[in-house]
Amino acid sequence: GAGRAPGPRVVLVGPPGSGKSTVGHALGERWQLAVRDTDADVERVAGKPIAEIFVDDGEPHFRALERDAVLAALAEHDGVLALGGGAVLHADTRAALAVYRARGGAVVFLDVTLAHAAPRVGFNQSRPLLLGNPRARWQALMEARRPVYEEVATLRVLTDGLRPADVAVAVEDGL
Ligand code: S3P
Repeated sequence: GAGRAPGPRVVLVGPPGSGKSTVGHALGERWQLAVRDTDADVERVAGKPIAEIFVDDGEPHFRALERDAVLAALAEHDGVLALGGGAVLHADTRAALAVYRARGGAVVFLDVTLAHAAPRVGFNQSRPLLLGNPRARWQALMEARRPVYEEVATLRVLTDGLRPADVAVAVEDGL
């Protein structure tokens, strides 16, 4: 083949409500590639939803499971990989992403403003970090993490107002 490095074709990062899962599936359709999502991997390993992991075991335990899921997926998943919004907080994950980028890997930051993210995240209880005041909590998370998303990414796509298929085209054009 063309000598592409092993591992994912593209890794998607960004805050909750940026469309990582839906855009991941749009890219998977477009490229006919398998799509993997570390939130789902963690839930499968733990045998329960993320909200229950936070309540029963705490965020540090969730982050440890998430780190393991990310490193495994970076090593073995040939396709599209969507990371949980906070996965980049772990130093091991940032180090593994640096290795992946150094081998030519693409990391896309799906950027989004609160106005567009809020309707996607505001009405369910599945994201423990947003409970109480989802809008304020989302804004605080995004403010703290934006520099990290920018640091790990090789491409940033502003998704406001775009349908998942349009974001997929923008990602493809930017790679
Ligand atoms: C989190 C985002 C969630 C999930 C967990 C923590 C975060 O994933 O991993 O609730 O810290 O931003 P999504 O980004 O897919 O919502």
